Order: sequence, then C-alpha cells, then structure tokens
Amino acid sequence: MSSVYELVLSLLFCGLMPLVLAAGNQAECPPSFPCGYLDNISFPFTLTERPDCGLLPISNCDDPLKPKMIQLHKNGLWFPLVRVAQLFSSPTTSLTAFQFRDTNLYHLLLNENCEAFGNNYTLPFPHSSGFAASLYIQYYTTLFRCNRSLHVSPPTNMHNYTKCPDYDLYYNDNPKAEDASLRACTKVLLPIKDAPDANNPFTFATADIFTKVELTDECAACHYRRGGQCQLDSREIFFCATANSIAGRRSWIVKMILGLGLAVTIALLLVMVKIYHTRWKKQNPTNQQIRIFLEREGPLQTKRYDYSEIKKVTNSFRNKLGQGGFGSVYKGKLPDGRYVAVKILSELKDNGEDFINEVATISRTSHINIVNLLGFCCEGSKRALVYEFMSNGSLEKFIFEENVIKTDRQLDCQTIYHIAIGVARGLEYLHQGCNTRILHFDIKPHNILLDENFNPKISDFGLAKICTRKESMISIFGARGTAGYIAPEVFSRNFGTVSHKSDVYSYGMMILEMVGRRKNIKTEVNCSSEIYFPDWIYNRLESNEELGLQNIRNESDDKLVRKMTIVGLWCIQTHPSTRPAISKVLEMLGSKVELLQIPPKPFLSSPPTSPVHLSCETL
Ligand SMILES: *[C@@H]1O[C@H](CO)[C@@H](O)[C@H](O)[C@H]1NC(C)=O
Ligand SMILES: *[C@@H]1O[C@H](CO)[C@@H](O)[C@H](O)[C@H]1NC(C)=O
Ligand SMILES: *[C@@H]1O[C@H](CO)[C@@H](O)[C@H](O)[C@H]1NC(C)=O
Ligand SMILES: *[C@@H]1O[C@H](CO)[C@@H](O)[C@H](O)[C@H]1NC(C)=O
Repeated sequence: MSSVYELVLSLLFCGLMPLVLAAGNQAECPPSFPCGYLDNISFPFTLTERPDCGLLPISNCDDPLKPKMIQLHKNGLWFPLVRVAQLFSSPTTSLTAFQFRDTNLYHLLLNENCEAFGNNYTLPFPHSSGFAASLYIQYYTTLFRCNRSLHVSPPTNMHNYTKCPDYDLYYNDNPKAEDASLRACTKVLLPIKDAPDANNPFTFATADIFTKVELTDECAACHYRRGGQCQLDSREIFFCATANSIAGRRSWIVKMILGLGLAVTIALLLVMVKIYHTRWKKQNPTNQQIRIFLEREGPLQTKRYDYSEIKKVTNSFRNKLGQGGFGSVYKGKLPDGRYVAVKILSELKDNGEDFINEVATISRTSHINIVNLLGFCCEGSKRALVYEFMSNGSLEKFIFEENVIKTDRQLDCQTIYHIAIGVARGLEYLHQGCNTRILHFDIKPHNILLDENFNPKISDFGLAKICTRKESMISIFGARGTAGYIAPEVFSRNFGTVSHKSDVYSYGMMILEMVGRRKNIKTEVNCSSEIYFPDWIYNRLESNEELGLQNIRNESDDKLVRKMTIVGLWCIQTHPSTRPAISKVLEMLGSKVELLQIPPKPFLSSPPTSPVHLSCETL
C-alpha cells in the first residue's frame, strides 16, 4: 500500500523538481563548478558566463582541449591558469591562491633573456578602487643586479650569474640575505616557485606566479554570512548584491513558477516525511544497527539508558553546559553520585550513522587521554551519550584571548605542553593502540576536554572513521572536519591521500593555536600585516628572532614554545608524506629543541617580506 503511494509521490516529485530547479538556476550561483584540470573550484572564481557569481572569471571550463584562462582585472588581459588551491572556505576564513602564467615574462625566461631582470615584477594590472579582494604574489625574492665595474664580493652562499651583458646577478633563496657588500647593486624583486631551483636564475625566477587572494572583510561578510554576491559597480566600487536584490530582478513569471513549485514540493515532502516517520517508528534502522552492533561487539561496558533515566540523571535538563551543531550537552549526576556530561543529539539529523559511529568508536577505547563513554540512550528519535564529567570543560575556553577573559585563568607554558603531549598520546592510541585504527577527523580545541588537573581528553567521535590496521589510506565521502583544521588532502585529493596524517595536520594547527593563543586565521587584520599565524611564527623561528609571545617567562618556557612550534609546523606540512606520524611527534616533543630541524615552509603562506607596493595590489 505505502509503496504505491511512494511511487506516485516520487513521480510527482521528480516531475516537478526539474521545473523548480530550472526556474531557480536563473539567478542562483553554483557553490562550485568543475573546470577541467583545475578540478572543482568555487568563489571567488566564477565562470565567464556568470560574472555576477564571483570576482575572478575563468574561461574555457567546458572545453577540455583549451587552456583555462583567468582575468585578473575587469576588462583586463586573460592569462593562462596553471592551478588553483582553495584550502579553506568559511565565513571567517578563505585562503585561496592560484598560479597564472605571465606569458611575457615566460618567454623572457625561456629564452634566457636578461631583460627578465630589468624591473621589479608587479602584478599585470593597474591599481583600482574596487574594494572586494586583494591579490598578491605569494613567493618572491630579491635578486641583486651589480655593475661589473663595482667588483662586488658577495657572501659565498649566494649564487651568481655572469652572462648578462651589463651586470652580474647575485641571488639566494633566503631573501633575508641582505649584505653590505651588495649595497651598491640594484635590487630586483621577482616571483619564484615554492621550491625554487637556484642553479640558474632563469629557472629560479618563474613566470607561473603564485598569487594569493584575500577577500576584504566586506566581501567575505557579504558572500559567506549574508549569502550575497560581491560585485563592483560601474565605477568599480564594491557593493553587496543580496538574494533580495537578485530576486528583484527576476521576472514575476519566474517567481510564480518558483513559488508554486516550491509550495507543491514542500507539501509533497511533508507527506513523504509523514509516511517515512510512521514506518520508521515501526522499524527504526538505527535500532536495527544498534542490535547488529551489540551482537557483534558482545556485551558492552557502556550501559544503555532509557530516555526517562536520562531525564532523571540530568534533572530534566536543568544544567546546560554547551551547545553545538550536533545538539546540546547537559550536566547530570548518576545514582551512584558520579557527575556526567550528557550529550543530547538533535533529532532527524541523519540516519543515526554518526551516533552509532560515536558509540562504536568510543566504547572500544580505553585510554587516559580519551574521554570515557559511560552509557548511551537510543529510544525512538531520542539519542544521548553519557560521558564522564570533565570539570574544566573544553580547551578552547582557555587558549583564545577573547575567551580567557571569561575564565580568568590562563594556562602557563608547562600546562600547554602537558596538554600537547596528552593529546598526542590519545591520538597515538587511536592510530596505533587499539585493534583497529581509528581516525578522528575533527581534532580541534573544542573537542579536547580538560579534567580538574588539566589532563586533556579527546572527545567527539561523531566524524571518526574506523579502518582495519592494514588500510593505510582510506576513502571518505563528503568533506569532514572543521575549517581551519582540515588537512588539505581531505579537501582536495590533489594534495595526497587521506590517512592518519590528516589527524596529524589538525593536531599541528591546534598546537600552533595553543602556542599563539589565537586562531590561526584572522580576517580582521588589514592586508599589509601578517594574517596567517603559522606564517608569522615560521618567519620568526627561521630568523631565530624572539617569538614575542605572551606568557613566556623564562628560558625553559621559551624552549618549550619553540619546540611545540617546530612540531606544529612539521605537522601542517601540505604533503601528508612530509608530516611526521603521531608517534614521531611524541618523540620530537620529548627531545631537546636544539636537536629539532626546522621544517620547510608550509605551502600556503605569505611572502617572507612585505614591500607595501607588492602586498597590497587591489583587484
Ligand atoms: C566536483 O563536484 C561534483 C558535483 O558538483 C562532484 O560530483 C564531484 O565529486 C566533485 N569532484 C571533486 C574532485 O571533488
Ligand atoms: C625594486 O623594489 C625595491 C624595494 O621596493 C627597490 O629598492 C628597488 O629599487 C626596486 N628596483 C627597481 C629596478 O625598480
Ligand atoms: C657601470 O659603471 C660604470 C662606471 O661607474 C658606468 O660607466 C656604466 O655606465 C655602468 N653601467 C651600467 C649598466 O650601469
Ligand atoms: C660564482 O660562483 C662560482 C661557484 O659558486 C664561484 O666559483 C665564482 O667565483 C663566482 N663568481 C663570482 C664573480 O662571484
């Protein structure tokens, strides 16, 4: 009986959906679009056909044979696009970079023409006042052009090139190599590759220019928070086109079709939900999964609670500890007097997969640095998890400046170090300690809980993935994790395969935040200052400067912080293979800071120095 209903409804639904979509598509911007060898890309890039959907139009996306071209400036030239890297994208962060080829410079370098070193390289478009985004060159360095009659004697670690007609060229991949002997020479700033080959200046400099895109706060807020589109008016001044103003331009016919279609679709959906709901009650797939799970796992340590018991334990949900996307957490007390944290999951979120995942994952674990699951509840659509209570709450409360004011306690370096070690031990256990390898996929300060002695415990296994030990890499569907902590390979397979090293990346990001006591990515700084904390600290570390962080009181604090910074930077290497395994991380944390090697500079980072005219090119 119900299957007949379903068939009719599905037919109606499928018939109407294309209509609705067709009407909607007219103005809706696609969240991402495929573009040949560039893979899927998204805002601020856009298709040339949809200049209203982004700031940087890309042509030839639908033609597999033609090179993709990008226009960097309204009515400007088109340049071949080499690659696109979009690592993070969320309301607060948007780190986007791309590499385009400057054909003019390309031919000069290819033909080993010394004119390539004639001038500082600047982005090939004029300044303008369209305040929507800034573009700047990611990697560049200074070359020294020295008149031969000067007979300079530069330091021996500099490379030289003596075949240009009028001058000798000196350069180095360490752009800080200012040397008094080169004072009389002319400086030329040129873009370089992220891993330059220094033997020949024509391959050392590059015409494939790695360019970082930084949205202005106004544009980021417009696009990510208000759901609008960043646009420039005829005078190239930024304005935010919101859904309302876009809809206003649609004809009333389209609006009517859309409205009607939506109304019918919603009505049908409601009917379907009703049908499913009735059936679901009879045969709850989650319950079935739990039964299978219980059969497979044998008797659990974890107790199964009725919903009424949960209500009693939490005193009818009186004391709320927190709220997240998953639901809410309440403080409770078990009959035996132990305090617990009860996580109530929102209803109808999914088919219960995350829930089963969490129960299955944690009930297998037992480690001092992993939160202890005492019980769970699964009754109808009500689901809850009962954990041991952690009196100091989550780590996030203690490390970010804005929160610390509320908790009036700042963690000292020793405690931070202790926490870093604890979390690494917990992760090591997950990755290696149990029968199966568990990948957490959502390591961040939020998910690290602290007991009364500030011992850290990893929590929130909603996204975890269990693999057999033999699987060294895994496949996952859909992006997992939290922006700012997700490893690049989880975002795009171009960066490598997803593995336990993805957790190491998130761990590294977290360690750097703990050390810096700030979010790694802030948008509320202007474009000439360092936006990206890992970059900033890397530069300090590399040049052996004082780290200048708060709370470093003595030399041993300084050593701890330096050590954690180096480890953090190793962990956030772009390529998973360059990152250490978590056991290696523990080894590094335990060794002397003098013995640690400074890692290569992480991939998406700011230029080493910031001459104002190069760092603030405005689109
Ligand atoms: C690109 O997007 C399409 C749908 O928009 C999706 O099916 C495909 O898996 C995506 N490809 C990658 C590599 O993410
Ligand atoms: C390039 O820029 C640097 C730093 O701004 C400046 O000192 C130098 O004179 C410039 N060189 C040329 C060839 O314009
Ligand atoms: C190099 O220096 C000599 C003598 O100072 C001068 O005559 C010559 O024009 C200079 N060459 C260049 C290319 O600047
Ligand atoms: C250039 O570099 C080579 C090898 O490093 C060195 O032997 C030579 O003396 C250098 N020449 C100049 C003019 O500095």
